[in-house]
Amino acid sequence: SSQASSKKTGTVERFTSTGFILAAIGSSVGLGNMWKFPYITGKHGGAAFFLLFIVCLIIVGLPILLAEMTIGRGGRGNASVSFFNLTGKKYWGAFGLLSILTAFLIMSYYSVVAGWTLHYTVESFTGLLFQEGSDYKTKFLSFASGYWPIFWQAVVMLVTGGIIAKGVSGGIEKFNKILIPGFLIILLVLMVRSLTLPGAAEGVSFFLKPDFSKLDAESALVALGHAFFSLSLGMGCMLTYGSYVDKRQSLGAATLAIGFGDLVYAFIAGLVIFPTVFSYGLQPSEGVGLAFMALPAAFSQMPFGFFFGGLFFLLLAIAALTSAISILEVPVAYAMHKWQWSRKKSAVILSVLCFLVGVPSGLSVGGVLGDFHPGGKNIFDWMDFVTSYVLMPFGGLVVTLFTAYAWKKAGEEAGLKGFWYKAWMFLLRIVAPVLIVFVFLYSVGLIKF
Ligand code: PFF
Repeated sequence: SSQASSKKTGTVERFTSTGFILAAIGSSVGLGNMWKFPYITGKHGGAAFFLLFIVCLIIVGLPILLAEMTIGRGGRGNASVSFFNLTGKKYWGAFGLLSILTAFLIMSYYSVVAGWTLHYTVESFTGLLFQEGSDYKTKFLSFASGYWPIFWQAVVMLVTGGIIAKGVSGGIEKFNKILIPGFLIILLVLMVRSLTLPGAAEGVSFFLKPDFSKLDAESALVALGHAFFSLSLGMGCMLTYGSYVDKRQSLGAATLAIGFGDLVYAFIAGLVIFPTVFSYGLQPSEGVGLAFMALPAAFSQMPFGFFFGGLFFLLLAIAALTSAISILEVPVAYAMHKWQWSRKKSAVILSVLCFLVGVPSGLSVGGVLGDFHPGGKNIFDWMDFVTSYVLMPFGGLVVTLFTAYAWKKAGEEAGLKGFWYKAWMFLLRIVAPVLIVFVFLYSVGLIKF
C-alpha cells in the first residue's frame, strides 16, 4: 500500500538547523501573540492570567511541543502517517487525520484576521486610516462588517499558497529567515513608544501586577487553550515541521528556543498594547478588535505615526503569514502523500478550499452574517472556540498518550536521558493528560465548577 511504501521513503525535503528554529518560531509567533493574547488577557484576568498562561506553557505546552517534533522526525511523514509509521497501527493514523482537519479549520479563520492586518497596513501607510476623526473602534467595525475583509483574505491565501508551493527550503525557510529577526526590532521600538505614553503605568500594572481574585475556571480553560494555540500544538503543525528536521538537530534545545521565543513575543506584545489601551481610554476587554482599535489611536498621535503604524501592521501581517504557512503546510503535506499530488497542485487546491470555508467567518464579524449568533457566538467565534478549546486540546491529548504510552522509543528520538527523560515522561503520562481532560470536559460542558 502507499502507506507501507511511505515508511521506507518518508519525507525528503529538509530544513537547515537555523532555518528550522526560525520557521518553528515563525509558526508559534503570530496573531496569537500580537492579537489574541492581549485581548484574552484583557478579558480573563490580566496579570494573573498571564502567569497562568506561563505555567500552562511550561508544564503542558513544552512537553507536547517536544513530543510533536519527535513524532514527526521519527515517523518522517505527515501528521497522520507518522503515527502509523512508528507503530504500524491504523487507528493512530486516524487520530492524526483529525488534527489535519483542525489545521484546515484554523486556517480558514486565521486568514480572515491576517487579511485585516493587510488592510490596516495599506490604510496606515497611505494615511487614510488617520483621516476623518479618531474613533478607531467605529472604523474597525465598519471595515469588518463590509466585504473588503473577503478580498484581503483571498490575498492571504494567495500569498500563503504561493510560498508553500516553493517548498520547504526555497519557500518556508527562506521567508522566515528574513522576517523573524526584523519583526523583533520593530516591536522593541514600539514598546519604547507605548511605555512612554501618558498613563502607560496603568496598562503595565494591569498586565504585570497579578490580582488572583480575577481568575475563574474559565481563565484556566482559556490559558491552556492558548498555550496550545500559541505554540502551534495539537494540529500536526510542529509534527509536520519535525518531519523535515535533520537527525543531528537537538530537539530539546529547539523546544526551549521556541518556547522562550514565543513567550518573549507575547510579553513584548503585552507591553505594546496595554499601555496604549489604557492611555487612550479603551477597555482591555474589547475583544477581537482590540489591537485594531487601540494601536491606530496611538499612531495617530506620534510624529510619523502613519509610517510606524504601517510598519507595525506590516510586521503583524508578516507574523501572521509565517504562522499561516505552517498551518496550511499540514493539509498540503497530507494531500501530497495521500493522493500523490505535486506540491504546487496541493497548495493551490487547499488554498482555494480553505478560502471558501473561511468566507462565512469573514462575514460574521459584523458583516452580513453578523446577526447570526447560534448559542451566543458568531461563526468566527465558534470556529475559534471549537478549534482552540476542543479540537486542539484533543489533538494534544493524542500526541501525549501516543508518546507516553504507545511509542516506546520516543526518548531515543528526542535525545533525552536520565532526569530530563523522567521529567518529560512524568509530564506526558500524568500532568498533561489530566489537565487536558479537565479542560476538555469543562469546555464541552460536561463538568462545571
Ligand atoms: N501559533 C500561531 C499564533 O500564535 O498565532 C497560530 C498557529 C499556528 C496555530 C500554527 C496553530 C498552528 F498550527
